[in-house]
Amino acid sequence: MTAHSLAIAPQRFRPAAPEPLERDPTLWQLLTSEAGRNPLRAVTKDAFEVPYRRLRALNFVFHGVSDPDQIKHVFVDNAANYRRPRLVHRILSPSIGEGLFLAEADPWRAQRRMMAPAFLPSAVASFVPLFAEAAARAAQRLAGDGEVVDMHEETTRATLAVIDGALFSGQTGMPFDETSHLVRALAGGGTEVTLGLMLGMSFLDMAPRQRRARQARRVLISRMAAFIHRRADEPDPPDDFVTRLYKAFLAEHPRDEAMQLTLDNAMTFFVAGHETTANGLAWALYLLSGDRQAQAWARDEARAAWAEAGSDPAALLERLPYLRMVWDETLRLYPPVHRIDREALDDDEVCGARVRRGEVVTVWPWVLHRHKRLWDEPEVFNPENFDPEGKRGRHRFQYLPFGAGPRICIGQGFAQAEALILLSRWVAEFSFAPAPGHAVRPHADVSLRPQGGLPLMVRRLGA
Ligand code: HEM
Repeated sequence: MTAHSLAIAPQRFRPAAPEPLERDPTLWQLLTSEAGRNPLRAVTKDAFEVPYRRLRALNFVFHGVSDPDQIKHVFVDNAANYRRPRLVHRILSPSIGEGLFLAEADPWRAQRRMMAPAFLPSAVASFVPLFAEAAARAAQRLAGDGEVVDMHEETTRATLAVIDGALFSGQTGMPFDETSHLVRALAGGGTEVTLGLMLGMSFLDMAPRQRRARQARRVLISRMAAFIHRRADEPDPPDDFVTRLYKAFLAEHPRDEAMQLTLDNAMTFFVAGHETTANGLAWALYLLSGDRQAQAWARDEARAAWAEAGSDPAALLERLPYLRMVWDETLRLYPPVHRIDREALDDDEVCGARVRRGEVVTVWPWVLHRHKRLWDEPEVFNPENFDPEGKRGRHRFQYLPFGAGPRICIGQGFAQAEALILLSRWVAEFSFAPAPGHAVRPHADVSLRPQGGLPLMVRRLGA
């Protein structure tokens, strides 16, 4: 048992979550109400109580699975029988093409092999000074005079700077304010359940936010394409992720194809590499703002870690065990990737139900991480869930913030190190308290974010 769990715990924080429904919404309700725009509002009570649910919408069948052994079956033991669903391709391919996230079979294997070295622990360690500099700059930006600050905007700004610096040598030329706005427009209008999407007829989706999403996508892609062209023409480009990718693709493909694959992956990593981490960080700050004791423990640890790490920021990561528990618990309560889908290539059986070829198996980290059979007091913020005792006896497949199996997040180590360093700097220097009158509302689009931002009262602490 840790010192933290031995201390007398004050009443624990129950963070915001939509009230589950009594029964599944109809397709009409999905298409016309908030339940379709925010999938968290379409979840029923029994989803958190049973291991399996079958859902149907038009001609799509979804097998919702919350049984850890059966999840392992789909993600690992029988992974070869599953691919990303065509519906997911339809949603994401206009933005990220055939990059790593959407590639399948041999092209996916070749890309994953090509990119793996960039995310090995040694490569992540080489980025740590960059994370530490970004953390220092992020802290400098805040006046900390007790004013209300949208911390979701701050976490997005910091993670955008990190991904641009780490993978693109800071040269994408994407200005923060506009880019974050565009990424949000893209995420906010491009993913909801729409008739056009389900029927594969995008011209049916003409709501303003859907048009804004398409416009944002055009601008982002054209900016990124301009950067890739500049890079490809440079006689002596920086030896970074994007240059290495382009050279590796060029060795195997004609120039146009190599350019396109580099662009697809630049978009994939630019978006997947900052949005999820930004949302996770915002949720961590929200949870700490609601639990003063946890925030005080995290602060003491972070201050000592920064003081001791001196000029060696790599040493920081070993000195933040409590903050790591806070981060793990954050990804349990607010998993940025709130659902993971797989389409069956051939018939299979899951939880005793027949899965036919073409049907989709869905794992909802949002549901799995709050499942009543798997967690004690699942709605309560409790970092001790991730101390050694809390973790003992837990099934590997009941906690999946980064997925599992061959398609597990390639950026997991990168995200963990980046998040701990940014978070530790913020909590070392500032206190965070809820903004009076603001109700935090989780909203699920491509990733799970606080709707309308995360205003918090931020006060700089004395030395
Ligand atoms: C807290 C931050 C992050 C979370 C919660 C997260 C979560 C995930 C999850 C759950 C998947 C698997 C999806 C599936 O199996 O269908 C995934 C895949 C992926 N992630 Fe992350 N991610 C994070 C950060 C990052 C970062 C920092 C990068 C890149 C620098 C990244 C790049 C990717 C890519 C390219 C894939 C696709 C991998 C493949 O299909 O082979 N992610 N991520």
